[in-house]
Amino acid sequence: MNGIFITFEGIDGCGKSTQCELLKDHLRDNGKDFIFVREPGGTVIGERIREILLDKKNTGMNARTELLLFEAARAQITEEIIKPALEEGKIVLCDRFFDSSSAYQGSARGMGMDFVAGLNMAATGGLKPDITFFFDISVEEAAARRGKRGEASDRIELAGLRFQEDVRKGYLELVKESDGRIITIDASKGIEEIFEVVKGELAGKI
Ligand code: TYD
Repeated sequence: MNGIFITFEGIDGCGKSTQCELLKDHLRDNGKDFIFVREPGGTVIGERIREILLDKKNTGMNARTELLLFEAARAQITEEIIKPALEEGKIVLCDRFFDSSSAYQGSARGMGMDFVAGLNMAATGGLKPDITFFFDISVEEAAARRGKRGEASDRIELAGLRFQEDVRKGYLELVKESDGRIITIDASKGIEEIFEVVKGELAGKI
């Protein structure tokens, strides 16, 4: 495929969505051909799955059900949006992709990283990001940021700090095994400073 696939990862409140916005503006200013999508969602079917996944009323959701719904939304967006865009040579920015399932469901929900890796493969048909940014921040700092934004917690965020700690551990494990695909960024720094690092990592690649 001709395009380049870039994903953004981190625990809830790590600031990755802000960085996505900055990168979108930067690419637009430079006349680059790109699309931006987010997971779960990004397609009509995927947005419906997203509602089920994040609905606070769904307290009885089984961990396997949750994982398979994330993977189902992923299968849809991969075939419908991501692969065609890459084939057209576009830059694809994705706010979360399969590393989220490995960290949240594999590590934090305890379903096992290898088990989730198999399902990730099934959902994407083997498509992998070219570059993944992992915005690393302590659980306490991320929680304080979320508090400041005054956002209503969704079902996953409601799982608590201990859960976020396990998500972070999962990401750190993924970084070690990623052969350089995942780039860790210190997300405790200021917004501009972080964006300079992101731009630096992408220099010459996009
Ligand atoms: P969202 O509001 O998009 O959060 P964020 O802005 O932090 O990305 O909600 C997505 C939530 O779903 C978030 O808590 C992470 C979680 N999630 C998983 O547990 N597994 C996954 O595979 C994905 C893609 C997201």
